[in-house]
Amino acid sequence: MTAAMDCTLTKLSEHTGIEVRGVDLTRPVDAAIRSRLNRAFSEHSVLVVRDQHLSPHQLLDAVRLFGEIFPQQDKKFSLPECPLIHYVSNQDRYPDGTRYIPGAGYHTDHSNAAAPPKATVLHAVNLPDRGGDTQYVNMHRAYENLPASMQLRIDGLRAMHVYQSRHSTRKLMALSEENRQAIPDAVLHPLVRTHPETGRKAIYLNPIRIEGIEGMAESDALALLDELLEHARQPQHEYRHRWLPGDLVMWDNRCLLHKANGDYDMKQVRYLYRIMLKGDVPA
Ligand SMILES: [Fe+2]
Repeated sequence: MTAAMDCTLTKLSEHTGIEVRGVDLTRPVDAAIRSRLNRAFSEHSVLVVRDQHLSPHQLLDAVRLFGEIFPQQDKKFSLPECPLIHYVSNQDRYPDGTRYIPGAGYHTDHSNAAAPPKATVLHAVNLPDRGGDTQYVNMHRAYENLPASMQLRIDGLRAMHVYQSRHSTRKLMALSEENRQAIPDAVLHPLVRTHPETGRKAIYLNPIRIEGIEGMAESDALALLDELLEHARQPQHEYRHRWLPGDLVMWDNRCLLHKANGDYDMKQVRYLYRIMLKGDVPA
């Protein structure tokens, strides 16, 4: 039997983010609520479901309301009891002993895949008392606020994405040979993509993974990407998520950049489950 749920949705900012209350994802969700949540996700790009306390397997079931699970690249972070779910933690270190803060610096997830994940979900297990916000930039808004001359210039360009761009200022953890062989060397994606559900255009860039732009000199490509990122990250395009215990946050990688903040007391453990959903080939 499906539980009756008094589900309320509230916008979190003018352009990005919607909060869901009154849903218990440990229980079956009926078709009407499921389609309402999916629509809210497409329209608002960040879906925040409050007050959830899900085991890894419950999280897996909940996330399947929105699509199929995308296998993540670096299996080092997968949960032994539920390998499709990975963790994000501030307790991991690079081999040289420095602390690894996953996701610092604006990016979109796994854009080096031929069909990158449409969404990433984080579920808070342990949060610091304060700080550790996740920042988002709405790339629909960023595209729509470009001068028409710049829109014309970038429409039709394609960028090359790799696991780790040599231009990236943030270094990822090295992949094991087995993990590395499972992902493509490089893929080309449009620099402006159209959202398959809403038809809106968005700038699709990723400073961690873009190596260059097809047919463009490297210095021109880097200057253009810097200019677009500078434009995109203006405060009027941003939604900043302040985490509450029990939050389940799902964001749309097709039209957002996101970044983590390591601005909190590192003696406190910050630990979240992470899971992704399959997406289309960008077009
Ligand atoms: Fe990320």
